[in-house]
Amino acid sequence: MPASELRNRIVQIRRFGGPDGLEVVDAPLPMAGRGEVRVRVLASGLEYTDVLIRRHLYPQTMRLRPPFVMGYDVIGEIDQLGDGVSGFQLGDRVADMTVVGSNAAYRTLRADRLVRVAAGLDPAEAATLILSWMTAYQLLHRAARVQRGQRVLVQGAAGAVGQALLMLGKLAGIELWGTARGAHAALVRELGATPIDYQREDFTLVLPDGFDVVFDGIAEDGYRRSFATLKRNGLLCAYGYSAGVQAQRRMPAMLMWIARLYLWRWLPGGKRAGFYSINVMRARHPAWFREDLERLFGLLASGAIQPRVAERISFDEVGEAHRRLEAGGLDGKLVLCPDLPP
Ligand SMILES: NC(=O)c1ccc[n+]([C@@H]2O[C@H](COP(=O)([O-])OP(=O)(O)OC[C@H]3O[C@@H](n4cnc5c(N)ncnc54)[C@H](OP(=O)(O)O)[C@@H]3O)[C@@H](O)[C@H]2O)c1
Repeated sequence: MPASELRNRIVQIRRFGGPDGLEVVDAPLPMAGRGEVRVRVLASGLEYTDVLIRRHLYPQTMRLRPPFVMGYDVIGEIDQLGDGVSGFQLGDRVADMTVVGSNAAYRTLRADRLVRVAAGLDPAEAATLILSWMTAYQLLHRAARVQRGQRVLVQGAAGAVGQALLMLGKLAGIELWGTARGAHAALVRELGATPIDYQREDFTLVLPDGFDVVFDGIAEDGYRRSFATLKRNGLLCAYGYSAGVQAQRRMPAMLMWIARLYLWRWLPGGKRAGFYSINVMRARHPAWFREDLERLFGLLASGAIQPRVAERISFDEVGEAHRRLEAGGLDGKLVLCPDLPP
């Protein structure tokens, strides 16, 4: 298609709240500014974190006001180079974590933030690595620095980050348990962990001596029971609060849960707790972000990891995809592939 005929298509949030506040609209094609490239989007993940952003419960996007474009991550093919960009060519495949703006057919990106993506990688699988797998990788190797043989509990083990924690945790040689709904027990076992049915079993009774590390993106009970199930000197890495979102808790309550984690370290028993944020870690250690994402792309290319894409969806299915994310029960990621026919 001649460039003059190209139009953009975007998933825009019109008002904070439910999925009906989203709309898919045509928009002018963005132009790459100085130091930027424009990409044709090949894949952009839909995440539970998008639910938080849509409901105005996400600290990093608190200052944004609708309308703005959704889309946390992007795999794209460069179709325009802005002034001053070197080292990239038209047709190169690249990735970035953008927090917003990537559920679109085209978008511009800062060239100095891009990570290269090998042409042979499946774009939808590669997209799952940018938020969910990076979070899991950095939780394991940057935040907790897990050691071979440690006993580790993953809350929400069938979720996007949870699955990645299990697969990467297995590669790291740790012993894993994972909480999930009963229907996902076989999946958790297949990924190398001992399943714990969160609707029927009490995970605090599973290991009488306690876990070395607990990863918790759910915050059931404000992380209290995850902390209680640690062994002496154990570590709780919290990274999400899905249970609070589902229970319609307000932002100050959830921020209080996070603040409290840092007070618990003063309790007797030597246990520690902290909150991991992918954005905070990227801001503090941009080189780690690039290094870790390149490592994950390498693991994907070699077949060492197999991310599960539950479904590749078109623009028309985005509203329904948000409903499915919120309802739970998914066993893989939903990825927007703008090239898919409606
Ligand atoms: N801090 C960061 O940098 C960062 C990065 C990525 C994600 N996050 C956050 O981390 C959380 C998880 O993200 P995700 O993308 O993995 O979400 P997800 O794909 O929705 O996975 C969450 C999983 O938790 C399960 N679950 C729900 N309630 C549970 C409970 N009480 N006990 C155990 N499991 C339960 C869900 O199971 P069902 O299907 O049975 O409901 C689902 O499998 C989200 O809140 C997200 O915003 C934070």
